[in-house]
Amino acid sequence: MRHDIIEKNVGLLSVLVLVVISFGGLAEVVPLFFQKQTTEPVEGLEPLSPLELAGRDIYRREGCVGCHSQMIRPFRAETERYGHYSVAGESVYEHNFLWGSKRTGPDLARVGGRYSDDWHRAHLYNPRDVVPASIMPAYPWLFEDVIDGDAIAAKMGALRTLGVPYDDTQIAGAREAVHGEREITALVAYLQQLGTVLKDAR
Ligand code: HEC
Repeated sequence: MRHDIIEKNVGLLSVLVLVVISFGGLAEVVPLFFQKQTTEPVEGLEPLSPLELAGRDIYRREGCVGCHSQMIRPFRAETERYGHYSVAGESVYEHNFLWGSKRTGPDLARVGGRYSDDWHRAHLYNPRDVVPASIMPAYPWLFEDVIDGDAIAAKMGALRTLGVPYDDTQIAGAREAVHGEREITALVAYLQQLGTVLKDAR
């Protein structure tokens, strides 16, 4: 009665249950590593410029992802409101992903180009100035804080190790491209490119 041994031994049972479940997980996950659709960039996708990359770091630092997803699901209610649903090939250069899962505010996956730079600046300075009922926090310090850019080349180098196709010239000029810029400029540059590669695809 070898099965008896398993049934009477909770530790062993748990380990074997885990093994069985992990097979199911592997069967779902492993094929994704080999599917072109999930590993190849969509046509026209470019790595973020140094300024946009600096903006992305600010987006992360300020916790925007806690209230905003960047993931349009393939349902009509979503695509009518936000545009083409998000595809994996748009995110292949993203480390880490900022897809998020909490939508206190709207999804931002395709917010690029929807508003002017001035609108974003006014909105981030004080959301109530442009959307009176907004509960989004204000970020006035972004208008004062300046980016030194000392780490940007190293960050781009690290991203290149992970497969983001930055070339040497881009990395060499990176500090120069962001040094002395206000944080708000970088954040707006980041927002304005979001989802633009697939924008017109409907
Ligand atoms: C506490 C939750 C919260 C946080 C944190 C937050 N937002 Fe928002 N955001 C909202 C809400 C709610 C709205 C909708 C009302 C409005 O437009 O202000 C919004 C709207 C927006 C919009 C307009 C989207 C559209 O399609 O109309 C943008 C852009 C935006 N937020 C960017 C940001 C950025 C960038 C950050 C981080 C610096 C951020 N938000 C942080 C809640 C939040």
